[in-house]
Amino acid sequence: MSTNSVTAQTEEVIQPDPSRTYNLTSYEKKRQTFSWDEAVKGLGAASSGKWNAAYECIDRHVEEGFAEKTALLFTDGEKEESYTFGEVKTITDSYARVLKSGGVAKGSRVFIFLPKSPDCYFTILAAIKAGAIAGPLFEAFKEDAVRERMEDCEAEFLITDSELGKRVPEKDIPSLRKTWEITSLREEACGFADEEDPTVWLGEEDGMLIHYTSGSTGKPKGVLHVQRAISHQYISGKWVLDVHEDDVYWCTSHPGWVTGSVYGVFAPWLNRATVVIHGGRFDADEWYSLIERFKVTIWYSAPTAFRMLMSKGNLFENYNLSSLRHILSVGEPLNPEVIHWAGQNFGVRIHDTWWMTETGAHLIVNLPSEAVKPGSMGRPLPGIEVAILDETGEPLPAGETGELAVKAPWPGLMKTIWKNEQKFRSYFTEDSWYLSGDTAYRDEDGYIFFSGRNDDLINTAGERVGPFEVESRLIEHPAVAEAGVIGKPDPVRGEIIKAFITLREGFTDSSNLRESVRFFVREGLSAHAAPREIEVVEELPKTKISGKILRRVLKAGELSKYKEASQV
Ligand code: PRX
Repeated sequence: MSTNSVTAQTEEVIQPDPSRTYNLTSYEKKRQTFSWDEAVKGLGAASSGKWNAAYECIDRHVEEGFAEKTALLFTDGEKEESYTFGEVKTITDSYARVLKSGGVAKGSRVFIFLPKSPDCYFTILAAIKAGAIAGPLFEAFKEDAVRERMEDCEAEFLITDSELGKRVPEKDIPSLRKTWEITSLREEACGFADEEDPTVWLGEEDGMLIHYTSGSTGKPKGVLHVQRAISHQYISGKWVLDVHEDDVYWCTSHPGWVTGSVYGVFAPWLNRATVVIHGGRFDADEWYSLIERFKVTIWYSAPTAFRMLMSKGNLFENYNLSSLRHILSVGEPLNPEVIHWAGQNFGVRIHDTWWMTETGAHLIVNLPSEAVKPGSMGRPLPGIEVAILDETGEPLPAGETGELAVKAPWPGLMKTIWKNEQKFRSYFTEDSWYLSGDTAYRDEDGYIFFSGRNDDLINTAGERVGPFEVESRLIEHPAVAEAGVIGKPDPVRGEIIKAFITLREGFTDSSNLRESVRFFVREGLSAHAAPREIEVVEELPKTKISGKILRRVLKAGELSKYKEASQV
C-alpha cells in the first residue's frame, strides 16, 4: 500500500440540474440526522419485524393498489414481454409453491443458472419467497466455475434451462437434491395457481442471497447476504438511483453479479420502478434502441460499456434518447472523459458509485442532487462512515492515499463468508473498520478518489477475477507447466487478463498453442476469465524461500511497458 501525498486530480465540478426534483436534496443534513431505522420504516412488513425481500419487492405493491402497474419490460432484440406487478406476484407465488412442494424450505440453497430473462428474476424472487437463499450464477460460467460454487455452497436445488444445464456437473455435487428445468417449473406452476400464500416470513438475520466472488488468493468465496440488506438496498435505490413513480429503470448487469441482483432486481423493485431487462450480450445498436423503445429514464451500467459506446462515435444520433434523466456507473474507475461524453451527448451527468460484493449495497455515491467532481467516486452515503487508513490502521488526513475502510456494521454488509468465518473476520480491524483492499484518497470536501488495489485482484470490464482461479485452470492444460496471471492496463476494459506461462517439455510456443490455452480457460471457467494475452516465458519470477510466483514483478514489468507506450 502506498501512502504518498497526492493532490486532487481535477478542480472541475459539475453541478446538478436545478430544474429537477430529487428524492434526497439535503446531503449534509441527512448525514447528521439519518439513522437506519428510517430506512426500515420505508419498507412494508419488515417495519413490523416480518422479513421477506420478495414480498417487499412485489406483493407489497400489489397490496398497496399497484397490481396494474408495469413491473417488467423485457427484450432480447427480437421478442418483447411486459408484466405487471400483479402478474409478477402470481408467477412468483406459483413458482414458490412448486419449490416448497419439492422440498425447498427456510435456508435451502437454491441456485439459479439462467440467462438474463424474466424467469431469471422471477425464480430468484420465488426462491426467496419460499424462505431459501438464492444463488444466482452468471450465465457465461462454464463447468469448473459452476462446480466450484455449487459444491462449496452445498447447493440443494437448481433451476436452469436445457442449454445452461449441460454445464452443471450434477454428479460432482452430491448435496444437490433436485433440479428444475425452467419449462417444467413453469408447467408444474400451473397446477399450483391460487392456493395459499407461499411467503415464508423470516428474521432480519436470515439468509437471502449468496454471491461467489474472487479474492486474490484461493478459490471464489461465498458472500452471504441476509434479509436486513433490503433496508440498505431500498434507501440507496430511493436516494442514489433516485427512483420516482414513473421511472423506467435499466441495469445492464446479469443477476449473477451483485450489481445485477441488488441494483437489477431488488433496489428498483423495492422502490416500485418499472424494471427493464435486456437479454443477450452488449450490442450498441440494441442498447440505444432499447432506451428509445422503452423510454428508459434511469440507466445503471459500467465504464467499460460506456467506453464501448463512445467508440461507436455518433451512433447515438440515430436514436431518440431524450427519456434519459439519470445515469449511474459502478465497478471500475469512471474516467472524466466518459462523464464529459455523456454530458455533451445526452445532456446528463454520469454518477459514479462505489461498493463491493461484500458490502451488499452502495457505500460511496454521487447523489443526483449534489455536485459531481469527475474522477471522484463521490461521498459516503448517509449512515456510512469511511476512512483512509495507513499501514498501521490509523486514519489519514485529506490528500493522503491509503486503504479505503468503512466503519462496520451497516445493513447491507455480508453476514459471513460461507463456511469460512475466519476469512469473514479477516476483513475487519479490531476497531471495526471493514478493509476494502482498495486504495484511495479523500479531498478536503470529503470526495473520495480511487487509486487502485493493494492486492492482485483483477478488474476486467468491471468484473472481478481472481488470478488464482485462472492460474489453477491454466496449469490443467497439458502444455502448461506454471502460470502467473495479472491485470494489464487497457484503455477500454480498464484491465485485461494477461497470463505468463512456462511450457512443459515437448511443447513449443506458437499462436495455435496460445489460442488452445486461452480456449481451455474459456471452456472451463468463462469467457471473461480467459486471458486476452498469453506470453510464454522461460521462467517465472518467484520468491526465494517458498517459490511462490511473484505476480507483482510480472505486473511491474507490464506497467512500465504500458507507461512507455503511453508516453510515445
Ligand atoms: O476495486 C473496486 C472495484 O470493484 C471492486 C468490487 O468488485 P465487486 O465485488 O465485483 O463489485 C463490483 C460492483 C459492486 C472494488 O473493490 N470498484 C467498484 N466500484 C468502483 C470500483 N473501482 C473504482 N470505482 C468504482 N466506482
